[in-house]
Amino acid sequence: MAKAATVQHACSDCGYTTGKWLGRCPACGSWGSLVEERTPTAAPGVRGAAAEGRPLLRLVEVETSASERIPTGVAELDRVLGGGLVPASLVLVSGDPGIGKSTLLLMALQSMSAERTAVLVTGEESAAQVKLRADRLGGGAEIQILAETNLDEVCATLERERPDVCVVDSVQTLYAPELGSAPGSVAQVREAAGRFLRVAKEQGVATFLVGHVTKEGAVAGPRVLEHLVDCVLHFEGDRYRSHRVLRAVKNRYGSTNELGVFEMTSAGLVAVDDPSELFGRPDEEQPGSAVVCTIEGTRPLLLEVQALVSPTDLAMPRRVGTGVDPRRLSMIVAVLGRHAGVALGQADVFVNVAGGVRIDEPGADLGVALAIASAARNLPVKHGLSCFGEVGLTGRLRSVSQSERRLAECAKLGFSEVLVPDGTESRGRMRLRAAGTLRTAITAGLDARGPSEG
Ligand SMILES: Nc1ncnc2c1ncn2[C@@H]1O[C@H](COP(=O)(O)OP(=O)(O)OP(=O)(O)O)[C@@H](O)[C@H]1O
Ligand SMILES: [Mg+2]
Repeated sequence: MAKAATVQHACSDCGYTTGKWLGRCPACGSWGSLVEERTPTAAPGVRGAAAEGRPLLRLVEVETSASERIPTGVAELDRVLGGGLVPASLVLVSGDPGIGKSTLLLMALQSMSAERTAVLVTGEESAAQVKLRADRLGGGAEIQILAETNLDEVCATLERERPDVCVVDSVQTLYAPELGSAPGSVAQVREAAGRFLRVAKEQGVATFLVGHVTKEGAVAGPRVLEHLVDCVLHFEGDRYRSHRVLRAVKNRYGSTNELGVFEMTSAGLVAVDDPSELFGRPDEEQPGSAVVCTIEGTRPLLLEVQALVSPTDLAMPRRVGTGVDPRRLSMIVAVLGRHAGVALGQADVFVNVAGGVRIDEPGADLGVALAIASAARNLPVKHGLSCFGEVGLTGRLRSVSQSERRLAECAKLGFSEVLVPDGTESRGRMRLRAAGTLRTAITAGLDARGPSEG
């Protein structure tokens, strides 16, 4: 019988594999991303020796005593995980270089190590460097450190020690010698994640894997990694400013809409209890800035949306959004032109959400539209006014969920008036300005006296 091929070429971006090398990956279209991998493959169709089948369990017989969540000691991390770390779960934490992944997880370990056995597997930094950081953050004397990059050694150690929690920093530095490819390659990352999955589930070790991201912002290595783990957290934010946002992209045990907001200080990451205070403070009376109240998971969040509208000669004017979905932005620009009398066919439109936060909730539409209209007409949004509401394709405003909580948040931050879609009710004392269409909302929201001097 012919022996199975042992050399394959795998795309380091999407994980596509092929027998021969190609310059361009047929699956994801990226150039030069195929790398050679040796995979020890068995001949196809041959079944493992001792597979006899296993007895089935009825759900009622399954014991769930150990399912109580472990508080990580970092409240914002607990919130994003859905109320704490689930024992024996595998969590992938990814983020740009230097964003603070190691800091976040070291802080969690410091607090968890007080009551539980906690192991830090570090492949990027030496034990001494970890100690330096731990000293800066304060505490964590009980954390056990393993500075090792050999996957076999790491897994054997974890199987022997069976800690309650383990952090692997990072999964890209580990290598399994028998695979033959370089650390960080698709095969290695996949192998490492698969083995940690087994250790986590069989030995009951709750594991955090730190993963690097590619230039495009996806988790480096194949998508396979995201499927394997229970939970994928992205740590993002402006590297040039001090606040960071942690969000769940996938969570088998909780909502994916939760958001954790931190500020990076010399003493580590400090939770921002009131992110609205941080992100929702507009430049007073400047055209092109509007405050919108969105809901991120269970938490209302006031965000400042800024827009710039500038004349252009381009045949295809640009619509550039940072923190907003580009398709949503194009739609809002089209509705503004067609139904609200804000013609933008000859103008580039740039939109930015303050603080590197990303909004993907239709309730923020009105804020984006108002900021663009304000920039296009050179009129500021009325003083003390915030807004929320979904913009429909017909130019009508649609009411959104959880309006009561949004209004409460606006009131808390001292906004005197809120622009909302018709039909929104308030039980509080907030003054509402209801509008049925985007056109009336813009008239009601902009201050016709023009920008203040100064
Ligand atoms: N003494 C300090 N004072 C304030 N901030 C600091 C200090 N030391 C480090 N930092 C912050 O910590 C960040 C690095 O954090 P950390 O090493 O946890 O990032 P990381 O995501 O693990 O990076 P990498 O991908 O390189 O491992 C730096 O960007 C810096 O902002
Ligand atoms: Mg690090």
